[in-house]
Parts: sequence; C-alpha cells; structure tokens
Amino acid sequence: MFRAGLTCTSVAVACLLWATVTAAYEHSFQRWSGKKFWNQPDYTRLELASFEAASFKPVGNLNALTDTFTLLGHPAFPKYSVRIKQSDFCDGTVAAYTGYIDVEARHLFFYFFESRSDPDRDDVIFWTNGGPGGSSSMGLFMELGPCRVVNSTSVVYNKASWNANANIFFIDQPVDVGFSYAEHGEYVSTTEEAAKDIAAFVSIFFEHFSSFKGRALHMAGESYGGRYIPLFSSAIYDQNIELVKAGLTPINLTSAIIGTNGVTNRFTQITSYYDMQCTPASVEPITDISTCTRMKQAIPRCQKLMETSCIAGFDPIGCDEAIEVCRMEIQDPYWKSGMNVYDISKKCEGSLEETHCYPITKLIQQYLSQPHIRQKLGVDPSIPLDKPLSSHNVGLAFAGTLDGLHPSDLYVAALLERGVDVLIYAGTYDWICNWVGNERWTLALDWSGKEEFVSQSLREWKVNGEVAGMTRSAKGFTFATIDGAGHMVPYDKPWESLEMVNRWLKNRQL
Ligand SMILES: *[C@@H]1O[C@H](CO)[C@@H](O)[C@H](O)[C@H]1NC(C)=O
Ligand SMILES: *[C@@H]1O[C@H](CO)[C@@H](O)[C@H](O)[C@H]1NC(C)=O
Repeated sequence: MFRAGLTCTSVAVACLLWATVTAAYEHSFQRWSGKKFWNQPDYTRLELASFEAASFKPVGNLNALTDTFTLLGHPAFPKYSVRIKQSDFCDGTVAAYTGYIDVEARHLFFYFFESRSDPDRDDVIFWTNGGPGGSSSMGLFMELGPCRVVNSTSVVYNKASWNANANIFFIDQPVDVGFSYAEHGEYVSTTEEAAKDIAAFVSIFFEHFSSFKGRALHMAGESYGGRYIPLFSSAIYDQNIELVKAGLTPINLTSAIIGTNGVTNRFTQITSYYDMQCTPASVEPITDISTCTRMKQAIPRCQKLMETSCIAGFDPIGCDEAIEVCRMEIQDPYWKSGMNVYDISKKCEGSLEETHCYPITKLIQQYLSQPHIRQKLGVDPSIPLDKPLSSHNVGLAFAGTLDGLHPSDLYVAALLERGVDVLIYAGTYDWICNWVGNERWTLALDWSGKEEFVSQSLREWKVNGEVAGMTRSAKGFTFATIDGAGHMVPYDKPWESLEMVNRWLKNRQL
C-alpha cells in the first residue's frame, strides 16, 4: 500500500508528515485491530507519593552544582530523579547546565542556560523541537540558542539568543531523541505519555532550586511542538492540583509559545497548501494552473472525507483513504518539485534525509559527535558517536499510534480559558506548516474569546520601524507571522524572533 513519499518518514524535524501517517496505518491496523483506537488516551496523571516534608532537602541554588553530576530526587516523585552538572560551554557569559531526567529506565537529556539579563528574576522558557523525533539541539545550535554551530568543531556566540531575557531549557524528548535513551527497549509513542515525564521534571526542578519557585514558566516549541506544547502545558497545569494537595508550590505556568506549527489542527492545515502554492498568500503562485485547478477541486472532497471519516467519527479505513486523497492531490505536487518544504522561496539544499534541506544540521551532528564535547556535556557513554539528530524510531512509533491525528486545539482552548496565554507564530515562507493553515485554525478555535479574537483584523507589527510581520490578538491569544522566515523562524530572522519573544515575555503583546 505504500508509496512515493516514503523518504519523508526520516524527516523527523517536519510536522508529522502525511506520508509517515499513511505508512503507519497498515501497521496500526494490525496493532489496533478490533479496538476503538480513536478514543484518545488522557495524559496519565502522576500520582504523587505522600512524604514527610522534613525528608526533602532542596539543593537550593544552581551555583551549588559542580562539573560532576549531582543527583536530585523528590520524595513526592519516587520514580524520578534528575542528574545535573555545570557545563561551561556555548554561551560563555552565563552559567550553563546539562543533565538527564531519569524516569526508571527512561533518560531525557536537557541543556539549561541562565538568562543574560537577570537570571534570579527572569522568566523560564522550556523549549522543545518537533518531529516527532527531532532533537532540540537543532533549536539550540541553529535557531534560538546562545551559540550557533559554524563548522564541525566550532560554535560562535549568538547575540540574538532567547536567553537574552530568560532562563532557558532545551530538551531532547521523548526517549531515543538526541542524547536521550532508554533501557530494556522502553519507548514512548504518544504525546500523552511524553507529557507525564515533562510535568514531573518541571516540578522536581522548581522544588530543588528555590530561587525559581513561583517564577513564570513559558512552554515553547515548534513544528510538532504544536502537539507537544498544548499537552505538556495542560499536564503541568493539571499537575498543580496535585502539587498543592501535597503542600508543594504550584508551577506558575504563564504562557505557551508555539512556532510554525502544523499539527494543532491538521484538518484545517491540509487545505492551506493550495493557498501557499496557487495564490499570492506568501510568494507569487509557484505551481502551474493545471495542477492548481486539480488541487482546488480536490479540497471539498478531501474536507468532506476527513469530516466524515476522521473527525465526526473515526473509521481507520475511511480516514486512511481521506488522507491518501488529500496527500496525493494537495501535497504531492510540491514534494515532487525539489523545493524546500520548510521554505517556499528556496530549493532544498542537500536532501531531506541528509540535511533536512539545511546543511548546518550536519554540522550540528558532527559538532556533537566530538568526544570532548560529549564529555563536557555529560552525555551517557552508551550513545553512539554517529547517532543522528532525529530519531526515526520515534517518528514511526508516534505514527503507529496516530498521535498526530488527535486534536490538540482543544487543549489550546482549555489553556486560554484558564488564563494561560498562547502565542502562535509562523514564518511566511514555511510551506509544510504554513501561516495560512495556522491562521485558519486560530480563527476556528472554539473558546470564550473567539468572537473578540476573530473580530480583530491582522495588523502590522514592527521591529526598528520596519514591518516584521502581521499579528492579531485578543484575551491572551496572539497569532503572528514573521515576514520572509521559513519553518525555522529564528534561523532566518533571529532579531525579529528575539524581539517577538522579548515583547511576549514582557507584556504578552507584540
Ligand atoms: C572552524 O571555525 C573556527 C572559527 O571560525 C576556525 O578557527 C576553524 O579553523 C574552523 N575549522 C574548520 C575545520 O574549518
Ligand atoms: C507568576 O508570574 C507572573 C509573571 O511574572 C507574576 O506576575 C505572578 O505574580 C506570578 N504568580 C505567582 C503565583 O507567583
């Protein structure tokens, strides 16, 4: 049953690609046959263990850490611990820490950089790349981190890093991504499962480092982060109930920041490929009239099929067919064009499998393969030196559970209803998770601020007097575009994206 787009399955950095999903159906038929698998799992709430307050000794201050691992645990989370060390690298002007969140046999790697401004008071950003299966080292070393890789052995200071005014985490998740690993063949195949570990990690960290208690936390990510971040944020929000019951300090979850996201609502996204290629929504139409006409004709059929088979009820055979029709008619013409799926204004440099169209991704992999860098970071020696940045296995495992077809917009609405602000941003040149589809689902989102949000027209937002993009905002919900940026917005437009984040942190306004 499977077909031309198979190469896409290794492109873990993309939004979940249709090809991956389609490939997984056969697999999931076998795995799930006879089960009502559209019934989406809830993220598993952690049961906090009861404990004596006196039995917990927080580390207190990050400065107390050394360049060898300190082990952090918490009696409320008996199955979890955190290994953390000082790792002087990348930024050079602020303290940096790396380590692992250990969840029995599962081990998640993270980087933490202090703010360049006021680390004792500034907010905290948690960043994850997408995929599923993409390593956050891509976000760190080519997008928004304190340094950028310039060749296989060197990095340079990034003046536009998002730690300008915030403390920031980068995490390789779920297990098998980047430097994260698992024993006994354990793996994670749903966002719900991944969310549980993230929520526990955040609590352990904030409990141990008391200077962070109550500090504003912003959950951020791009691409498949459009699925991760709404669920991770919701898991943290819901866990607060348990934390309060246990006498612990709740996490001050303040906002969710989601970049170039195409999966929060996949079904509104799919039709937007027509707008990108066949209208001047981003660049002048790049696809021929004959193909555009076919695409346009396929849209109502595609929407109807998805509505019937994927949304109103879930019929795996029907939904498979719907997605196949949509993929062939609406996505294939661009895939076959050799253009960069992350940037409609460019050809793909290298191949998707080799470079994700960006040769710098190879340099990141090479840079992180250096034994002295691995040692400095405390990377587990079991991680092979040639391990790719993206985990193919994770991409397949998530596809196998149809994780990307579960709606995430309901979580976004629920967060907004609870006063957690949400920023959705998109580069205008991104094709795969394009701004048109993002705008569409933000307008369609059902929440109590909908009317006010929808009634706003898009207005320009500016950086140094120049138009940086368009934005619309109401009641804590903001949509923004960044002109001339592809999928990896901070890579293409570092200053505009830093300004966007700084303004968002400061007063949730662009
Ligand atoms: C990498 O870049 C650094 C800094 O620009 C330079 O000193 C070094 O020679 C370069 N190494 C290679 C292998 O190109
Ligand atoms: C949460 O963070 C916000 C923004 O910094 C701050 O205004 C608020 O007081 C904090 N809330 C708590 C409960 O600490």
